[in-house]
Amino acid sequence: MKITAVILAAGKGVRMCSQLPKVVHQVAGKPMVVHVADVARQAGADRIVLVVGHSRQKVEDLFSPGMVEFVVQEEQLGTGHALMQSWEKVSQDDTIVVLAGDTPLLQATTLQGLLNYHQESQAIATVLSTEVEDPYGYGRIIRDETGAFQAIVEEKDASETDKIVSEINSGMYCFQVQEAFAALSRITSNNAQGEYYLTDILKILMSEGKKVEIFRTDAREDIYGINDRVQMSKAEEILRKRKNEALMKNGVTIIDPRSTFIDDDVEIACDTIIYPSTLIEGRTVIGSGCQIGPGTHITSSSIGNNVLIENSRIKEAQVGDECTIGPYAYLRPQAILHRRVKVGDFVEIKKSTLGEGSKAPHLSYIGDAILGKGVNVGAGTITCNYDGVNKWETILEDGVFIGSNTNLVAPVKVGQNSVTGAGSTITRDVPPHTLAVERAEQKNLKKRSQSKPVK
Ligand code: UD1
Ligand code: CA
Repeated sequence: MKITAVILAAGKGVRMCSQLPKVVHQVAGKPMVVHVADVARQAGADRIVLVVGHSRQKVEDLFSPGMVEFVVQEEQLGTGHALMQSWEKVSQDDTIVVLAGDTPLLQATTLQGLLNYHQESQAIATVLSTEVEDPYGYGRIIRDETGAFQAIVEEKDASETDKIVSEINSGMYCFQVQEAFAALSRITSNNAQGEYYLTDILKILMSEGKKVEIFRTDAREDIYGINDRVQMSKAEEILRKRKNEALMKNGVTIIDPRSTFIDDDVEIACDTIIYPSTLIEGRTVIGSGCQIGPGTHITSSSIGNNVLIENSRIKEAQVGDECTIGPYAYLRPQAILHRRVKVGDFVEIKKSTLGEGSKAPHLSYIGDAILGKGVNVGAGTITCNYDGVNKWETILEDGVFIGSNTNLVAPVKVGQNSVTGAGSTITRDVPPHTLAVERAEQKNLKKRSQSKPVK
């Protein structure tokens, strides 16, 4: 038996007041619907089918080819109608788990709980429910006197007695395909919203004597659906807290979790310390024994072991073991630092490789450059890589010493162990083992007698 997850994500999400469809909005650095798809996969779904409609290209673009399959719901006529669109993608003897694209707090353990309960009880349909303090807006779970499932009643269709019920429908279910789709073909839009309610198939299955179960979870947060940006910020807070706590349990020290923001997909090894006011985003991987922050912002980068980074911005860069970065360094895309590199204060590095043990300690711009091992870049050195039209490369071979305030006008190469004199503008290649000086000779002239200061 295979498990297919069907994620309903065709709606617009009017209350977001957005140009983007709701499920594309990011929580903890990841679009809501991607959170849901990731969790479905973690919980053991063999296939994932997304029902898309509103701005569907924007939803489809979130996934790399082959990760999920799409079906289109042209008009959003309700959750039942949405599920119906997945018909061609599911096999008759599959178990399907239906999820909504706007529940980014769902966790694999909760979903596995639902799947296990559904399988063990050999039900045709199982609905995931929970108790909430304020059930307003949700479909209520109505049980009979024995506690068995009777119906789900939507807020807009609920009577006063239904409205008191605090057990709500999460909008997540397990179904046996054949029976569920047979029941789906029989639902109508005869209700307060004029929509085809998915929830009605449970009632139909019951009336046919089919087994309908309720799996009630205590994990209330997991079913939290996002409708507006206030709810989105609450979800953000919960996801951040979960992420920080998971990292701390794996041996990462986070000095101030309240000012530390780490995206869901970030990996950090043990004995790394994260100092306050630090933001780590995207698919960043950080090794062990590092000290990151305070005041550091890292995006989609890989950081080795025992690296020190202070008050710096790092974007799509690779940093080897035992490097020290900052304070106030800026590593831009394709900055590649090998082991034991030092990048100090007010140094910007773009699309450049720095070999083992090389140093750019102060006030430099290094762009489109290749530095060998043990290169020392003096304070204030600039690679002049751009001629207004094209970018050119600078090569500094092993052991090169660049004097302070050197301009390296690319394309240019400084050979092994060569030195440039401070303040030189180097426009021609320098052979190995050479001192290159480009400076007018200093003249010491007699000082004129002191002129009077202007009043
Ligand atoms: C639904 C349930 C309700 C439950 C609640 C949980 C129904 C009738 N009601 O209500 O019992 O308590 O979820 O959050 O199912 N969607 C489509 N196509 C459509 C309509 C919706 O893809 O035609 C998608 C939406 O994009 C969304 C999900 O289905 O991701 C849920 O739809 P929504 O309109 O938010 O359902 P609720 O009214 O919240
Ligand atoms: Ca609705």
